[in-house]
Amino acid sequence: MENIINQQIRLFCDETDGIAALANISACIKQNYDRLNWAGFYIVRQHELVLGPFQGKVACVHIPFGKGVCGKCYTDQEAQRISDVLAFPGHIACDSESRSELCVPIIVNDQVVGEIDLDSPEPSRFTAEMENEMLEASKDIASSILKYHWKF
Ligand code: SME
Repeated sequence: MENIINQQIRLFCDETDGIAALANISACIKQNYDRLNWAGFYIVRQHELVLGPFQGKVACVHIPFGKGVCGKCYTDQEAQRISDVLAFPGHIACDSESRSELCVPIIVNDQVVGEIDLDSPEPSRFTAEMENEMLEASKDIASSILKYHWKF
């Protein structure tokens, strides 16, 4: 049987308003995974990533492509599971408590259109299982972007 978090996220994806859906999904992730200090979204604009709905402390609004964990997730079009952010060259520290990070791309028609980003104050917090759960969530979000024509 599928895990609870992906079941819940799928329910929140069945929503006509994209901003509302991402707001609830960020809250859902923060509530379901313990030992997180930040859970939210970055949205791809023309030349950069811009902060989307999130749960946690205030965060940087603009991230250039290629910079930090989120920027690398964009350019590589691949999940970044970083066990020690202090050892990651160019890591952008929005919250100085963060020690590990998981960033997963949301891909629509072969283009990264956004990212799910999770931070933890604990080193090596993120497992391969969590990465798979967030990849599953990103696919559901991508499907809803197409189905409901979500605009951000
Ligand atoms: N740490 C990220 C920046 C976003 S915050 O973690 C919310 C990065 O290095 O891109």
